[in-house]
Amino acid sequence: MTKSLQATSTDASVELDSITKSYGPTTIIGDTSIHINDGEFVALLGPSGCGKSTILKMIAGLAEPSTGTVSTGQKKVQGPGPDRGMVFQDHALLPWMTARGNIDFGLRSARPGLSKSERAEITRTHLEQVGLTDAADRRPARLSGGMQQRVGLARAFAIDPPIMLLDEPFGALDALTRRELQLQLLGIWEASQRTVVMVTHDVDEAILLSDRVLVMSKSPESTIIADINVDLPRPRHDASEDPAAETKTAELRKEMLSLLEH
Ligand SMILES: Nc1ncnc2c1ncn2[C@@H]1O[C@H](COP(=O)(O)OP(=O)(O)O)[C@@H](O)[C@H]1O
Ligand SMILES: [Mg+2]
Repeated sequence: MTKSLQATSTDASVELDSITKSYGPTTIIGDTSIHINDGEFVALLGPSGCGKSTILKMIAGLAEPSTGTVSTGQKKVQGPGPDRGMVFQDHALLPWMTARGNIDFGLRSARPGLSKSERAEITRTHLEQVGLTDAADRRPARLSGGMQQRVGLARAFAIDPPIMLLDEPFGALDALTRRELQLQLLGIWEASQRTVVMVTHDVDEAILLSDRVLVMSKSPESTIIADINVDLPRPRHDASEDPAAETKTAELRKEMLSLLEH
């Protein structure tokens, strides 16, 4: 895979230091601290409405904590920045541009230093990575939901920010497409080892992808109730039979499901 020039410093750690978030009189998120290491894949797992997207937006610089501070690379977050990229559930593609055009446009905006031919090469590689080479010249209206989501992921990974924020990126997809994209994301991540924070309410997705799963309680005053190491071998994208790993996976699933029930 092409390893491209990084515009920003190399410390891609994420720190939330005693943050809370209130809307009016309601404290949605209670006192919460999170530390994510450079290169770690962390899932935020919790029930709907507990504040997962809000935490991701605070890291992205799209929302501010009511108290406490959020930092990336030891610098206080004061708005969006080139060290962070976000993938939303509703892929947000530009409808008048082709799949290739969307990725190229993202690159042109985020990494203006690249030449046209460098952009073309990065776009080509990333379209190939998500299996869209043959659909490169189609506009979003002619792509299925799964294909649109692939373009969204390819666009984000082409920009290659040190920190990737994924908000239920596979939420709207059917089970088969979802699995396929999860495995593609695993392949991309295992090759690039960027810091990833992924929001999900899917226990199996969290276990398949993450190094660590942070389980959140229900809102109001939700907080992290467990910090669970996913001690399974990598690479994980070839789902070969490994009885020890299967036992471990079943244990983790049970532990997480019981935490989510409270
Ligand atoms: N801008 C806002 N104004 C008021 N309430 C909000 C706003 N954004 C989110 N909320 C509330 O905060 C809670 C957490 O939302 P969210 O972070 O989207 O949860 P999740 O992603 O875990 O489903 C929800 O109850 C939601 O209604
Ligand atoms: Mg959400």
